[in-house]
Amino acid sequence: MELNFAGIKLRNPLVLLSGTAGYGKELEEIIDISRLGALICKTITILPREGNPPPRTAETASGLINSIGLENPGLKTFIKEITPYVKNLPLPVLPSIAGNKKELAHMAKKLEETGLAGLELNLSCPNVSGCEFNPVSPADLYKTIRAVRQSVKMPILAKLPPDLFRIESLVKAAEDAGSNGLTIANTFPALLFDVRKRKPALGGITGGLSGPAILPLSLYLVFKARQVTKLPILGSGGVFDGPSALSMLLAGANAIGLGTVNFYRPDAYQEILLALKKHG
Ligand SMILES: Cc1cc2nc3c(=O)[nH]c(=O)nc-3n(C[C@H](O)[C@H](O)[C@H](O)COP(=O)(O)O)c2cc1C
Repeated sequence: MELNFAGIKLRNPLVLLSGTAGYGKELEEIIDISRLGALICKTITILPREGNPPPRTAETASGLINSIGLENPGLKTFIKEITPYVKNLPLPVLPSIAGNKKELAHMAKKLEETGLAGLELNLSCPNVSGCEFNPVSPADLYKTIRAVRQSVKMPILAKLPPDLFRIESLVKAAEDAGSNGLTIANTFPALLFDVRKRKPALGGITGGLSGPAILPLSLYLVFKARQVTKLPILGSGGVFDGPSALSMLLAGANAIGLGTVNFYRPDAYQEILLALKKHG
């Protein structure tokens, strides 16, 4: 099941998605992460962030909404304390970064020096002020990715916002800017209420919807993207079992992201690998 994804060698197409597997440490204690294709780290920013007030997650029918607010230790600590750990994990690891054009180019340069396998650009963090990339215009997306492309040679995956109506133009912009691959897509902007308290369910008020609830939407996005690009696509959104993973491939993805499922069925990869062997 080996594949070359955007210049990164994966032992199989299953990829742990950003923010749902931390830096691998907790998950490594409960599953055999050497059986997965790659790990994308929780997004970091140039300076540390405390994140949003709690509650940060709430469940809905077949899904989860979260507003973590990109809590992270910042670039310096990531390079000093986290990189040595993730470099020893038994699978390729990609840091994920968010910020403005200048910050992204700077962070990318520093991270390239660590020798990690590649880089994911989180270009759609709906929960973070100062990083309101939703909706991002294709022209701005192009400029941002271009700035990173000019600063590094390492493989870049552009993680696109879940823009159902402009996905093709965003894909073309990312490709023209020199992205090696695409992650399609991030969580969908969403809102839930705690009706007993008559208040939003999340401290950050709005959040991002993930989990099986968004599977048909992410399949739609991947399918539309595939019609306009040959770039490798990491399908992200709602995969939780064999049929949902196979659907991602049928829609046109080359690799399959596992996100929310890591919280409630972290061993789902076993069933998915069997399904891929049988039908993939
Ligand atoms: C709790 C939580 C935290 C997340 N944090 C990040 C993040 O830091 N950066 C990012 O690009 N995506 C983040 N995501 C989005 C996931 O990487 C993934 O794109 C999304 O959840 C859709 O996939 P899923 O339905 O399989 O979870 C987060 C998702 C969840 C549920």
